[in-house]
Amino acid sequence: MICLLSIGLIVTIFTIIHTTMASRRRTSREAPPSREVTPEKVYYFEPNFERIGVIGLPEDIRTDEDLTEALMLENSIYSATPEFARKHGGRLAHAFLDQIPDWYVEEAIAKGLLPNIDVRVHRNLQPGDFPAYPGWHCDGELRETYFSQPDLDRTPVSRHVTGVLSNQYFRHGVVTNPEFLVNPYAFQTKPQSSEHMLWGMIDEELRTGQPKETTVMRDGELMMFDSRSLHRVMPAQIQGARLFFRLSQWHKPNLGDGGLLAKQDQLYRIWRPREVGTETQRARFEPSVTVIERREGVISIADLEKEYAFENASADFVETHGGPLAKELLSRVPSSFYEEARRKNLDVRFAVSVYRLYPTGDHPGNPSWHCGEDSESNTLVQDGKPGIILTLSSHETGVSPILFARQPVELGYNDHATWNDVHAQIERQNIATSEVPDGTMVGYEPGTLHKVQETRMRGWRFCFQAVMSNKPLPKNGGLLVREAPVYKKEDKIYSGW
Ligand SMILES: [Fe+2]
Repeated sequence: MICLLSIGLIVTIFTIIHTTMASRRRTSREAPPSREVTPEKVYYFEPNFERIGVIGLPEDIRTDEDLTEALMLENSIYSATPEFARKHGGRLAHAFLDQIPDWYVEEAIAKGLLPNIDVRVHRNLQPGDFPAYPGWHCDGELRETYFSQPDLDRTPVSRHVTGVLSNQYFRHGVVTNPEFLVNPYAFQTKPQSSEHMLWGMIDEELRTGQPKETTVMRDGELMMFDSRSLHRVMPAQIQGARLFFRLSQWHKPNLGDGGLLAKQDQLYRIWRPREVGTETQRARFEPSVTVIERREGVISIADLEKEYAFENASADFVETHGGPLAKELLSRVPSSFYEEARRKNLDVRFAVSVYRLYPTGDHPGNPSWHCGEDSESNTLVQDGKPGIILTLSSHETGVSPILFARQPVELGYNDHATWNDVHAQIERQNIATSEVPDGTMVGYEPGTLHKVQETRMRGWRFCFQAVMSNKPLPKNGGLLVREAPVYKKEDKIYSGW
């Protein structure tokens, strides 16, 4: 059984924070992020884009329902050669590949660049979701280091070909399509910092200045554009599935064995905490957290790329579908946790999430304070259940560690309240909190409020959870998560990256 001595535990957590930070300094493997200041100058963005064709769909795909079916079977691919994309792409990816002019790849090679293909598939976009990072930007940018801002002067003049296809194609609807700026635009640079990213500043000027002439792509069109053509992704207008295809002339080699299959695609969702309406009930949440074990908190991106995201999964599902790290962590869950679950007549379920994050307001999951199984469930969980959680990340400072409440919290709510509704109420109480450093596996009891934090450093973040649960087990023993929502507060949605 997980023992709960709150005071002792808090002391333990703080001791661990200190020792972990010390050991992380010794094991640092990455140069610190640079704090760049750009000398003042003007960037000219001369749009250069052209519609070069439309796809031909296979003859048996005649309706949007056929498209939905085909979209579910597509693979997400990134950093791939045309050969890799042909081998692993589905029929819709092939419909785009078939339209690429022969000279395109030859031109890339002549310029000393490499053809590079990304296929992203979103199977269930909700209205308002962005299937890519929101905001005006250009493609093919060059960054000096992983943490640098784009260096537009050194960005090779390359051409990209992009297209989208959604399950609104036959009824001429739009889920979400790219929008291009039509007129030239000059941007007077401003100092960049961790808060002011280049694309975020350009986006702000374009959004808040005089209305600009733009053109929106249609499903099935192929657009060729260069690295100085500003464009942006629109939020989804309606619920739908959608494939995004892009072929670039790229300055970096393809990843993996000529490309990689993406295990999940991210999307960006605006998070709107609300205020609870009439209070009809009050509840008291008592925190109780214990440290189970501690390990190195830093893990390489290459290792994180091997991990699958899943939820509501049985131990068997983790053994069959989990990545190496998930399987290893499964074996670290104490037997006392299973015994306690049995006594309570509950199952033990597992979840893993993997996120690529930027320090511009990204949250790897719903940022609301919550307890119980997850912050996505739309009602306050009154009979919360014990759980175990551990985060790892690619950076020594942590990318987005979990924050736990360290003191009891009382709150008022009504029958329909969600965690989003009571979040502001909890924040106003200014409660004492403890951050659990990456690599520390903790167990928490019901009533322990916790939340994900805003990303503090560009990097990847992994989270392993075990929870006691009485939810029905999915048919396959778990759910692979193909789409991971990154939540952003409204004022940070266009902050750049
Ligand atoms: Fe783009």
